[in-house]
Amino acid sequence: MTSKELIALEDKHGAHNYHPLPVVLNKGEGVFVWDVEGKKYYDFLSAYSAVNQGHCHPKIVNAMTEQAKTLSLTSRAFHNDMLGKYEKFATEYFGFDKLLPMNTGAEAVETAIKLCRKFAYEVNGIDQNEAKIIVCENNFHGRTTTIISFSNDEDARKSFGPYTPGFIKIEYDNLEALENTLKNTKNIAGFLVEPIQGEAGVYVPTEGYLAKAKALCEKYNVLFIADEVQTGIARTGQLLAVDHENVKPDILILGKALSGGAYPVSAVLANNHIMNVIKPGQHGSTFGGNPIAAAVAIAALEVVKDEKLAENAERLGQIFRKELAEFANENDLVKLVRGKGLLNAIIINDTEDSSTAWDICMKLRDNGLLAKPTHGNIIRFAPPLVMNEEQLLDCVSIIKKTILEF
Ligand SMILES: Cc1ncc(COP(=O)(O)O)c(C=O)c1O
Repeated sequence: MTSKELIALEDKHGAHNYHPLPVVLNKGEGVFVWDVEGKKYYDFLSAYSAVNQGHCHPKIVNAMTEQAKTLSLTSRAFHNDMLGKYEKFATEYFGFDKLLPMNTGAEAVETAIKLCRKFAYEVNGIDQNEAKIIVCENNFHGRTTTIISFSNDEDARKSFGPYTPGFIKIEYDNLEALENTLKNTKNIAGFLVEPIQGEAGVYVPTEGYLAKAKALCEKYNVLFIADEVQTGIARTGQLLAVDHENVKPDILILGKALSGGAYPVSAVLANNHIMNVIKPGQHGSTFGGNPIAAAVAIAALEVVKDEKLAENAERLGQIFRKELAEFANENDLVKLVRGKGLLNAIIINDTEDSSTAWDICMKLRDNGLLAKPTHGNIIRFAPPLVMNEEQLLDCVSIIKKTILEF
């Protein structure tokens, strides 16, 4: 079938809950994807930073297929021989006592919220149903009813109420707002934050924000919860984005690239005094911690270290921002480039409701590079971290050439 026919099929039989760029892919390898007509593209989104290790990484595919042939799912009614090995590996890898396995990012965020609340009631003595979690404006943590309850994106929220109470929203990157809220509000249990706001348009907070926010949380005895679903696993040039400021979260949320995009794998990590509040029967998931997920995650994390993906992201990110910053200086259409490692964005000089960013992405597609606009007139650039310098410079020239066509 042609791209056109396949898009029509989705349109007719699928819910219209996305607005994809019109391109239909059927193959991926490393930094490249191919459409059904055989055209080759650079993937410059990596499935929203899930495919950090590159498409169809042989080591990850091998771990997945070998495990799929042996044992795929037991549920947690029984033990399986992979989960404990994965939990040991991942807790040592990230430096926490314990891991709670889930599948999607949103589920892991839900898990962190439940863990934070339970800890507040059972260890910190907050009265039942009174716990509050501080979140940030323009956050994106997923799509469940509770998570969208504290979003301020009208598309994500509207007509999905009633909303879950217990969240206080403050401005991102504003330490004064955080301290005022911590000082003046009773029953605060946690502060949930993205180290860089990805969906909001790759908004990088002021240097020192995360370290100071963590110190404030310690001062007021509140859990610091880092949502690293998009920023984690080498994307920003360190294993975790909080590592740039030597911050150790009380609760760490991971997803996406934890599997290299091969399989839905997410996790919440915390030390014993926090994680031990969860007892049998109090939380879980049929698929969470399944043997395929465990095998895939171990392989995906090994690839990150073996191939030095954090170091590569850091180095290529510097080159990318330098090249595009120079270009932006001489080009009226690009206002700014920002980001960390290989999580970057350009801000297009046009009104928020104009279609310029979308139109540029369409032209990028025609020129062999796939990227997608995010909120406002912003284009996110997040290629797989296995990219090499020559490929990156090729991509930079495609981006420059495309923008000059406008
Ligand atoms: C920071 C952050 N948290 C959570 C999520 C939700 O992850 P999922 O789409 O796997 O539920 C995302 C997805 O983009 C994200 O960027």
